[in-house]
Amino acid sequence: MEIRPTGAALGMEVIGVDFRKPLPLQEREAIRQALLQSGVLFVRGQLLDERQFVDFARLFGELESYGSTMNKFLKAGHPDILVLSNIIEDGNPVGVADAGEYWHTDRSYVPKPAWSSCLHAIEVPHADDGTPLGDTEFSSMIAAAKALPLALRARLDKLSAWHEYVFRFTDKNNSMPGVSHPLILPHPMTKAPCLYVNKGFTHRIVDLPDAESTALMEELFEFAKRPEFVYRHKWQKGDLLLWDNYSTQHRATGGYALPQRRLMWRTTIQGVPLQ
Ligand code: OGA
Ligand code: MN
Repeated sequence: MEIRPTGAALGMEVIGVDFRKPLPLQEREAIRQALLQSGVLFVRGQLLDERQFVDFARLFGELESYGSTMNKFLKAGHPDILVLSNIIEDGNPVGVADAGEYWHTDRSYVPKPAWSSCLHAIEVPHADDGTPLGDTEFSSMIAAAKALPLALRARLDKLSAWHEYVFRFTDKNNSMPGVSHPLILPHPMTKAPCLYVNKGFTHRIVDLPDAESTALMEELFEFAKRPEFVYRHKWQKGDLLLWDNYSTQHRATGGYALPQRRLMWRTTIQGVPLQ
């Protein structure tokens, strides 16, 4: 087994492993450490069935269960797997169609956000010339925290932000109250300082007047997506990819439509309470 950096600010590729077979403990630990270190980890050419995919995700921890609103998009007989897809079958979408075309970290609006989210590419859309479509971008919030101008960093060290789900979505029936998290989050497992703010779910900066809060958030949203912090993943069928939601943010880039089909299986790995 080899673990190779992508050359970008984040991301590593695991080479020479077949995840259909049990892994030696030492390799499991090396893979887990690589995810913590690099924020994004992927392996090409794995065509797992549902059970193997769930077993793969469980190498990294307990899985989160999806809320009942997602029931119709869970894989039949495998409720740990959420389907992301633009495919319509018999008039019904087979999965969640909006994969999140805005920068976000998954579930930052709960006290115990998921540590990691994991995607397995089952079908990847392509342009007519064979170029894969539907890339996903990831940005390193460890690199961002390190690159902050010192005066700004000192200011952020003292501040928290309010994260809320309804900010982004119109479903007012959900009962998630939101939560505040530090703007500079010590990674709960590695202690690495992470810039923890995301356009998707960060609603306001606590204790700042409205205008100042909005201006600071806009500045940080722009900062966090600087090209030097970003790795853009071009999907291939059979990819397995995980990311660390504490040290990264991500967005789907879209740009495909039926008959170009995208089908991803997703599992989510539980995190720890952030305070
Ligand atoms: C997600 C997500 C992006 C993509 O599954 O949380 O943001 O490109 N996916 O599918
Ligand atoms: Mn997401």
